[in-house]
Amino acid sequence: MTQPTDETRITSVLQEERVFDPPARFSEAVGGARVRSLEEYRALHRRSLDDLPGFWAEEARELEWFKPWDEVLQGDLPEPKWFVGARTNLCHNAVDRHVAAGHGDEVAIVWEGEPTPDGAPEVRRLTYAELQRETARLASALTTLGVVKGDVVTIYMGMVPELAVALLACARLGAAHSVIFGGFAAQAIADRVEDAGSKLVITCDGGWRRGQVIRLKDTVDEATRLTARIEKVVVVRRTGQEVAWDAARDVWWHDVVPQGDPDFPCAPMDAEDMLFLLYTSGSTGKPKGILHTTAGYMTFVHATCKYVFELRPDAGQLYWCTADIGWVTGHSYVLYGPLLRRVPTLMYEGAPNAPAEDRWWDIVERHRVTHLYTAPTAIRALRGWGDQHVKKHDLSSLALLGTVGEPINPEAWIWYHEVVGGGRCPIVDTWWQTETGGHMITPLPGATPTVPGSCTLPFFGVDAAIVNERGEEMPPNTGGLLAIRRPWPGMLRGIHGDRPRFLKTYFGRIPGMYFAGDGARRDARGYFWIMGRVDDVINVAGHRLGTMEIESALVSHPAVAEAAVVGMPHELKGTGIAAFVSLKRGFDAGAALRSQLVQHVAHEIGALAKPDQVRFTTSLPKTRSGKIMRRLLRDIAAGKEVTQDTTTLEDYGVLAKLREHEEE
Ligand code: PRX
Repeated sequence: MTQPTDETRITSVLQEERVFDPPARFSEAVGGARVRSLEEYRALHRRSLDDLPGFWAEEARELEWFKPWDEVLQGDLPEPKWFVGARTNLCHNAVDRHVAAGHGDEVAIVWEGEPTPDGAPEVRRLTYAELQRETARLASALTTLGVVKGDVVTIYMGMVPELAVALLACARLGAAHSVIFGGFAAQAIADRVEDAGSKLVITCDGGWRRGQVIRLKDTVDEATRLTARIEKVVVVRRTGQEVAWDAARDVWWHDVVPQGDPDFPCAPMDAEDMLFLLYTSGSTGKPKGILHTTAGYMTFVHATCKYVFELRPDAGQLYWCTADIGWVTGHSYVLYGPLLRRVPTLMYEGAPNAPAEDRWWDIVERHRVTHLYTAPTAIRALRGWGDQHVKKHDLSSLALLGTVGEPINPEAWIWYHEVVGGGRCPIVDTWWQTETGGHMITPLPGATPTVPGSCTLPFFGVDAAIVNERGEEMPPNTGGLLAIRRPWPGMLRGIHGDRPRFLKTYFGRIPGMYFAGDGARRDARGYFWIMGRVDDVINVAGHRLGTMEIESALVSHPAVAEAAVVGMPHELKGTGIAAFVSLKRGFDAGAALRSQLVQHVAHEIGALAKPDQVRFTTSLPKTRSGKIMRRLLRDIAAGKEVTQDTTTLEDYGVLAKLREHEEE
């Protein structure tokens, strides 16, 4: 391998030898696993790569098409086209198709609200017929408000059923949705609205979180002062608190949606028409709008739900993914995937520890959840609250567990397996990204022996490899860059409005391959072990953030001269945020300013980006060419002995000064 640069040094000491075979009773629990042995997986994986179009055509035939494709796959990385010439609609496949087949009365979404201060848990169940009617009405109402096919609708809501209806309604009428997680601040909304050229926002008056109201509409109001683009705001009443009202701009959902046409049809979409934008952090300050299109995404999400989660209609399953729909996991695996598979999906509005720390287990028991999909950060927190909360509940309904978002540490894996899964549920540790649309490297629950901490083997049609910067494959147990060598249907089709950045970020580093941004290795078995990002992206509590975004937020504070942000090990969050800040003359470093800066970041980006540590320094360590030495800062933030070669340090004294501040 080429010498690792400052930013690509990849180290891992994790050696895990425990192997867990697929539990014998798993197949029974899900009504018959599809792939039952590693040999079967390997044969099918090989076949899928030998004939990519053949494999994906077979998967796509399980869905409905208004017009069939002329060609399954046209072109190659970086800009392939899938299902060329076909017409279909995702809402049709996720909702209307099931109604037409006589399943209209079946439950599509089970929604559990946060207990409001004055009441018991609230539960709502939406059938496919209701979803069809509500998505039609909203699509029709949006059309009346001026939305046309090809527009981008911004969605900033809590986890209420109307959120699911909103995404599906956009898909129904052919508008792309751009969902912004409810934890982001007004500036983040304004930036995304500007970039997407979005004129309409759907929001809620507020959302419930641990008995408190999050004032979502206020934040949207603030965003309308930061960008002039927002012409209409549709507001769902959830909390009922007073909200400011601009009669020319704001409309209540309950005023416009019931007026909508309940028979509004699903628009025939071209296979490569934009389905959604989802903004995610990259290695520059500006979040990028990841663009996904209709047919390939739909086929990929459907297939992964079928093989990885073994979702199967009429098998008594109830699937729960705890992610917020504001993230890609929520798009693909709270909403679209399970609905495409006709398996009821549970949506939960609130926090895992309100009103009590057994809240999730109470939900699993009451609803008889069969599939639970969550993030390692949640597993670590739940484990920390103690086994008694889990043991109080009957979790015998669980058949399969999943994790996503960050590497899972073996202790958390084992706890999940033993205490939550009672030792009988396979765990699928799924590696993927906003950009990939769906699972890329993952065990198949009935086939793949699992090893805690490894996401194991590539999904069908996925040609994953560990390579160096020249694209040469690395030998076993040698760290390298995680790359994908062939196109897959769920892949991003671009960064909204920035083709050069798309080509450079994903295809500019390793010739001819998609570069994921992660470092990884394969073990002797061929299993993949993700070591983490090798760019300036950090996964904080499973949320993806760019260190540059946080730096930009810090530098926008009047006291800050310069800032450098790095990830640091954090027991619960996996990665915490450490900020090194130098101040302008005349400002005093101290506790007051420190907390002001933390608040400032929350205001600029959102509470999820708050630094865990702010260290003041007179200057930052830089190379002679002026580049901040992040590797060094990472070591300092981690409290490690700095043993790296620091001969390029411009000012040796800076290092000593930084360490002095550690005691603060
Ligand atoms: O670093 C990898 C990590 O999350 C990144 C993608 O983040 P995002 O686009 O927000 O999507 C998260 C949900 C799909 C990846 O580059 N990551 C995701 N899944 C895993 C993971 N790291 C280790 N193991 C995983 N299973």
